[in-house]
Amino acid sequence: MTAIVQASRLRVRPLGNALGAEVTGGDLKTASEADIEALREAILDRYVLRLRGYRLDDIEFTRFVERLGPLHTSPDYVKDRKVYVKESPLMSVVSNIVENGEPIGHHGDGELGWHTDLSFTDIPSEFTLLCAREVPPKGGNTWFCDMYDAYESLSLEMKQRVARLTLKHQASHNPQYGRWPGWSHIETDDVREMPGPIHPLVRTHPVSGRKTLYLGRRFGAYIPGLKLEKSEALLDELWSHAGRPEHCFIQEWQQGDIVMWDNRCTMHRRDAFPGQGRRRMHGLMTRGTRPE
Ligand SMILES: [Fe+2]
Repeated sequence: MTAIVQASRLRVRPLGNALGAEVTGGDLKTASEADIEALREAILDRYVLRLRGYRLDDIEFTRFVERLGPLHTSPDYVKDRKVYVKESPLMSVVSNIVENGEPIGHHGDGELGWHTDLSFTDIPSEFTLLCAREVPPKGGNTWFCDMYDAYESLSLEMKQRVARLTLKHQASHNPQYGRWPGWSHIETDDVREMPGPIHPLVRTHPVSGRKTLYLGRRFGAYIPGLKLEKSEALLDELWSHAGRPEHCFIQEWQQGDIVMWDNRCTMHRRDAFPGQGRRRMHGLMTRGTRPE
């Protein structure tokens, strides 16, 4: 631990075996350089951080995230997206709440499958931070899996096989299998024809220098150059390997929790919560780099 990190008032406590840590203490509204450095060190070490016991309004939350890196600006798929929070136009709202007949956010109350945020864009986001404004008494847990471990625990033969391959992350369909704005003209359901960027299946984390399996959403994924059946079989195997419970940390949300994760070495999914009540998360992302 560096001297600057030792000066931080934040306390970091690992959670679970593989990944995840809880951060408490200090005040994120007035975070010092030492506090920001401590968070950078903690996320490099644990990939997912739960910041608990802080109370930040939308503007304070935005200022805090900007300390971690430039905000991810709107990629093409959301170019005509709605502004949910006028004080922070890049903030997203993940919610099942409907007011005056209109959803106030996106993704409803269903299960969201394993994915990596914005992997279906050329330059995906680095960190995502979600702040829990309203949470139901149960349900809606978010699972995170460790993609370093997902790679390292592959057999030698599988490591050699995936090292040479790339993955197309389809860009046209949203998690509910409708089309993102701007992609309504895409009619095909053939994954070989769907549009989307091609990223390496194994990427190197630009800060840690470690290799990680890089998957996005299973739906619509395709390995260019392979016959469709071979691509489907290999991808099914990789997704189920990555999502094994021993690779996971499960976040049970409390109101006010802020969870920060590194999209370069984790995937996440969400449990459904139908009939469990209101859930509202405010989210921001920081800008990443092209996967290599
Ligand atoms: Fe996500």
